[in-house]
Amino acid sequence: MQTAEIRRRWLDFFQERGHTVVPSASLVSEDPSLLFTVAGMVPFIPYLTGVVPAPYPRATSVQKCIRTLDIDEVGKTTRHGTFFQMNGNFSFGDYFKEGAIGYAWELLTTSEADGGLGFDEDRLWVTVYQDDQEAYDLWRKLGVSASRIQHRGKADNYWHTGQPGPGGPCSEIYFDRGPSYGVEGGPEADEDRYIEIWNLVFMQYLLTEVRGKTDFTIGGELPRRNIDTGMGLERVAFLKQGVDNLYEIDQVRPVLDRAAEISGRAYGADHEQDVRMRVVADHVRSALMLMSDGVVPGNEGRGYILRRLMRRTVRAMRLMGVDAPTFPELFAASRDAMKSAYPEVDTNWERLSRIAVGEEETFLRTLSGGTTILDVAVGKTKESGASQLPGDTAFLLHDTYGFPIDLTLEMAEENGLTVDRGAFDRLMAEQRGRAKADSKAKKKAIADLTVYSAFRAQGETAFTGYEYLQTETTVLGILRDGASVTSAKAGETVEIILAETSLYPESGGQEADAGSILGTGFELEVHDVQRPVKGLISHRVLVRSGEVGVGDAATTVVDPVWRKGATQAHSATHLIHAALRQVLGPDAHQAGSYNKAGYMRLDFNWNKALSPETRSEIENIANDAIQQDFQVVTRVVPLDEAKAMGAMALFGEKYGETVRMVDIGGPWSRELCAGTHVGSSAEVGLINLVGESSIGSTNRRIESLVGPDAFRDFATERAIVAQLTSDLKAPRDQITDRIADLMANLKAAEKRIAEFEMQALSARVPALLETAATIGSHRVVAESLGSVRSADELRSLALSVRERLGGDAVVALAGDVDGKPAVIVTTTPAARDAGVAAGPLAKTAAGVLGGGGGGKPDIAQGGGSNPAAIPAALDAIVAALRG
Ligand code: SER
Repeated sequence: MQTAEIRRRWLDFFQERGHTVVPSASLVSEDPSLLFTVAGMVPFIPYLTGVVPAPYPRATSVQKCIRTLDIDEVGKTTRHGTFFQMNGNFSFGDYFKEGAIGYAWELLTTSEADGGLGFDEDRLWVTVYQDDQEAYDLWRKLGVSASRIQHRGKADNYWHTGQPGPGGPCSEIYFDRGPSYGVEGGPEADEDRYIEIWNLVFMQYLLTEVRGKTDFTIGGELPRRNIDTGMGLERVAFLKQGVDNLYEIDQVRPVLDRAAEISGRAYGADHEQDVRMRVVADHVRSALMLMSDGVVPGNEGRGYILRRLMRRTVRAMRLMGVDAPTFPELFAASRDAMKSAYPEVDTNWERLSRIAVGEEETFLRTLSGGTTILDVAVGKTKESGASQLPGDTAFLLHDTYGFPIDLTLEMAEENGLTVDRGAFDRLMAEQRGRAKADSKAKKKAIADLTVYSAFRAQGETAFTGYEYLQTETTVLGILRDGASVTSAKAGETVEIILAETSLYPESGGQEADAGSILGTGFELEVHDVQRPVKGLISHRVLVRSGEVGVGDAATTVVDPVWRKGATQAHSATHLIHAALRQVLGPDAHQAGSYNKAGYMRLDFNWNKALSPETRSEIENIANDAIQQDFQVVTRVVPLDEAKAMGAMALFGEKYGETVRMVDIGGPWSRELCAGTHVGSSAEVGLINLVGESSIGSTNRRIESLVGPDAFRDFATERAIVAQLTSDLKAPRDQITDRIADLMANLKAAEKRIAEFEMQALSARVPALLETAATIGSHRVVAESLGSVRSADELRSLALSVRERLGGDAVVALAGDVDGKPAVIVTTTPAARDAGVAAGPLAKTAAGVLGGGGGGKPDIAQGGGSNPAAIPAALDAIVAALRG
């Protein structure tokens, strides 16, 4: 049974039983406490906790998931994948244990011919939480033999996400693969022979603190008892496809085969190589799916995990003896295996492959850099007679070059060395400590969300700002330093929760509205508007005057000038985005944006600089759209309909079932967007593209001024041009030629001046020769020239004097260059033969001048900070020559 078929049967089964089919959410979790969607329930957390009322009583999904906790197990066991799909059915306060257990048993044991999954009842085992008698009885009622039900503790039969949130006891279903796969005794005895296929979580508690898998605090009961179940699609697929592990199923195997082909090795011939091929197959698929959801390789958070998966892949291929790039082939194989379930990996292929290939190239370069570091360290270690590579070298390789420790271990071993693992582990532990401190700080921020959740539970904040600038409403809550209070006085900064608001909260790249909130006897100045939890809007305000209290009537007032600018900037962002794609093609995807009155920027996936012509073309197309006075039409439509109409949706963005679609000129620009926009494109006024720059290796950023700010920038440039035409006495179209002429003249004039200066300098030589004194065997000139233009001037003069003196001569000339003393000392060969070197003399003089100096025996220079000390410095040279 193909993976797609299992998926289809699953969704049909639950849809027929009253479940709403919900499409998979992005791998990038919307829940701020989780990096990734780690389970099918993650997108439903607000419904499970009751923070947001569930829009349906029952739901089912096949959710893309990423878990990297067990990354080291990948390839070694039958069942660990970093990317997997979780089939789930959910009840939000609807059916509970009996329903969940009944459905699971029915789907698993109904024959394949009758649309079920056709598992043999006698080979299914179940586990229940230690004291969950109810679940035990329900399984018994279905006819499961008591000998195949096991009671287990918290470690195995209690489920939570690892973060504060919903949790509860669970009951798991296992399939017995038979005696050739391990020992008798049920899942308790052997989790490889008895493979877990389905977990039913009876989600009824709110965990307020989670310190570890079995160490958590139950804060209380959830408002309703829910069901969260998860069946591993890959596990069922490998059991149904008669293969031994999840790396050999139809969606993964083609990558494994390609890795075998490229490396010229047969899969199944050697355990160690097999593990490597499975690692490659798993990691390539995970990386592909992550990129498809908008993650790009980076050094922290999600980007780092993606990078790690890719680097482990490169390393596995190298250990199989392949040093050349392999990503183009491996990722294409994964795309072909995944595209029927996830067509976007095919439609976005060009972008995905560009990122993958770029990352592989970078890492291959990194590897050769790291290899050099390692070779040097190996050389040094051997030279010193030691046999152990220092831990800090291994750490540096890991931290700076992304070398996994086992790569360092193996490469050291090839050179007959070991690695100081203890020191390496200590350095790693210190680094982890720092990371932990960071995530603790983050967790605290999330814990504070519970205050907002309490308000959210009373209902959504209605946003009226699309139609109105002002709205009359009621103060529902006031938060001071994160805690709910009943009132706030003049001078305080607090957060205000209202029943309705016309003030736009920062989102979709658009800056929050500016404005005020007014009531009888109080005036609040709005500093920020945010949506801390889905559906709830919070206003950060300064109480300008009076006192505001919970329950007061209030009016929200948007600053109309600010809002006008905000709509212009946001519509301009859409125009630039559309123009960009017209010029660069549909591969140029928005990766992020920010806009506020007068300014917009847009980051997009692209890896080379735009030429000035391309920039102008984009700017022209966007301004042409303004000229065309396109109507802007906003509609709320079902997501599928919007996508079918070609609306641009953003990576990593989660959209609801209905979406707001903003058209500028019909399909000319069509985006899903919650922002505020102008009524027709002409209102944008003007777009002035002022900047284009790189953001990392895969993104570029375009910046523009919009509306009156765009005009002001042009006006400033015009004023500069006007000044130039008047100063240069040239019409506008001749200014550049005129400047080029002036520059050429200037250069010629400077050359002439330099010549004159040389002549003037030479004129000073005779006078300097006159000052020559005899010290021992040497003829010595040691003079100050007063103000000079540069040390170079001193130098040429000193060389002329030296040449004219000849014989055994020493010349020391000093001068004041822009307030700083400088001295040049130079010697003839005969003087040097007599034991005089310029370097030490320059150093001596510099010491007196308050600085440093030195150079070669024939010529040397010194400097300092005190020009008044020049005579003393020259005296010091003379004294030194006298010995
Ligand atoms: N949340 C549970 C799990 O991930 C069941 O879906 O196992």
